Parts: sequence; structure tokens; C-alpha cells
Amino acid sequence: MAVEPQFAAPALPEIAPLPTHVAIIMDGNGRWAQQRALPRHRGHRAGADNLRTVIERFTAHGVPMLTVFAFSTENWGRPRTEVEAILRLGSEFIDRHLSELDRQGVRLQHIGAVDRLPRSLQSKMRRAVAQTQANDRITLNVAFNYGGRADIVHAVQLLFAEGARPEDITEDAIASRLATAGLPEPDLLIRTGGERRLSNFLVWQAAYTEYHFSAALWPDFGAADIDAALLEYSQRRRRFGLVPGQDADDRQLEAGDNA
Ligand code: IPE
Ligand code: IPE
Ligand code: MG
Repeated sequence: MAVEPQFAAPALPEIAPLPTHVAIIMDGNGRWAQQRALPRHRGHRAGADNLRTVIERFTAHGVPMLTVFAFSTENWGRPRTEVEAILRLGSEFIDRHLSELDRQGVRLQHIGAVDRLPRSLQSKMRRAVAQTQANDRITLNVAFNYGGRADIVHAVQLLFAEGARPEDITEDAIASRLATAGLPEPDLLIRTGGERRLSNFLVWQAAYTEYHFSAALWPDFGAADIDAALLEYSQRRRRFGLVPGQDADDRQLEAGDNA
């Protein structure tokens, strides 16, 4: 196998405030391969390998949670050979990197529907999740066979199955039945590959998330790009519907109070 040149990561800049939860749409693998006249699956492989570098950099910064979009419910529609290559890469990624990730204190979680995945991948994912449960340096939620709308529909179906009445269908009731139940909402969402869209990622959860779009193709997205995204985030002013300088505890009326 060809040896890739190794570049030292840039010195770690101090950035504050940092996001607690970063979501990433890892896009651009196909174009990365195309630029090199390689088959698309080689781009996915390079992308999977890059995840290691990315986890290391976010961990070094002290970001405690990442959620990465690896395969969407819509991606099933791609040519069969590509879908099969991505599924295989999921297994290979676990085989090749699990012990190292475990050693580094990465806690793995899966979000999305596992039951449509090949049985061997399902069991590998379950094993990886179980093996790393006690780790606490960084949590990596892997969205594999995930769709934001399907997530919301599933949450509402659970509510109905529990016999919910209309007044039981609240934002909290839905949020606590999503695949991300119990997780903080993403503070920052990064999309690589130059597209500026959500592509059915965390549709509900990203309602107040800050967005960072990078032109870098996912396999090329490195430490300097991560630093730039975090720096941009640190300079954003999040207002959650209030006016500058207003404290969240100083909310005046609830919706409809003054009607
Ligand atoms: C993202 O890269 C990975 C998956 C969707 C699985 P793409 O495969 O979408 O790469 P481009 O957008 O075609 O370059
Ligand atoms: C989003 O990328 C899904 C993943 C990165 C897994 P896509 O490449 O599938 O999104 P579109 O088709 O450009 O919207
Ligand atoms: Mg794409």
C-alpha cells in the first residue's frame, strides 16, 4: 500500500467558548476520488480513515461530543456496488480502529435504524458500543442509516403506541424519543464538500445550531480546518430569539401570553 506523507498537525490554538456537541456532515468523498481518477469507494475509504485524525483534533481541543453523518436513509438509493462498499467500510472501520479508539477514551454510540443493516455490521456495531461504554474523553455518535425525518416520525409513532393524547405531544415528549434522546443539541454543525444544505441530517435537533460550511472535501478536512471552524464558532453570538445582551433567565412572556 502506498505510504501517505505525514504532516505535523498545527499547534493547538486556545479557543473559547468551545461547542459541547459538534455534528458533521462528512461530504465530498466521491469528488475526492474523482479528482484522483479513482473509484468512488476509494474516496469513502480515505474518508473513513480521516475520521481518526478528526476525532484526535476535537479531543485535543476538549470538545466532548461529535455526531458524524456516515450514511443517510437516502443513500440506499445509490448504485448497489457503492452502497455495498460503504457497508463493508463500516465493518472494516470497526475492525481496524476499534482498539485504538477504545485506548484513546472514545465512547462510540450509533444513531439510526440498525435493523436494515447487514447482520455482521449490526453485531460489530453493538460490540463496539458495548466495549467503549465506560470511556469518557469524547463521545462519537455515528449516524449510519439515519434520516432526520424518519427520526421524528419514529418518535411520534412511539408516543402513539404509548397511548398519548394530543396534549401529551409536546416538544419535550418528541425530543426524548428521538435517536439523540438525552444528548445535548448540536451547538455547531460542520458540512464539508462545499454544499450548503442539511440533507435530512439532524432536522429537529439543529433548529438553533450554528452552521459552518467548508469547501474542503471530507478526506482532506484536517486539523487546520477544524481549528478554523471552532474559531468561527467562538466568534458567533447565539441569541435564541432574544436581543443582544439579554440573559436566557430574563425571558419575558411565553408564546400567546399577551394575546
Ligand atoms: C459523503 O460523500 C459520504 C456519503 C454520502 C456516504 P459523497 O459520496 O456524497 O461524496 P460526493 O458528494 O459525491 O463528492
Ligand atoms: C449527506 O451527503 C449524507 C452523508 C454525508 C452521509 P449526500 O452527499 O448524500 O447529500 P446530498 O445528496 O448532496 O444532499
Ligand atoms: Mg455528497
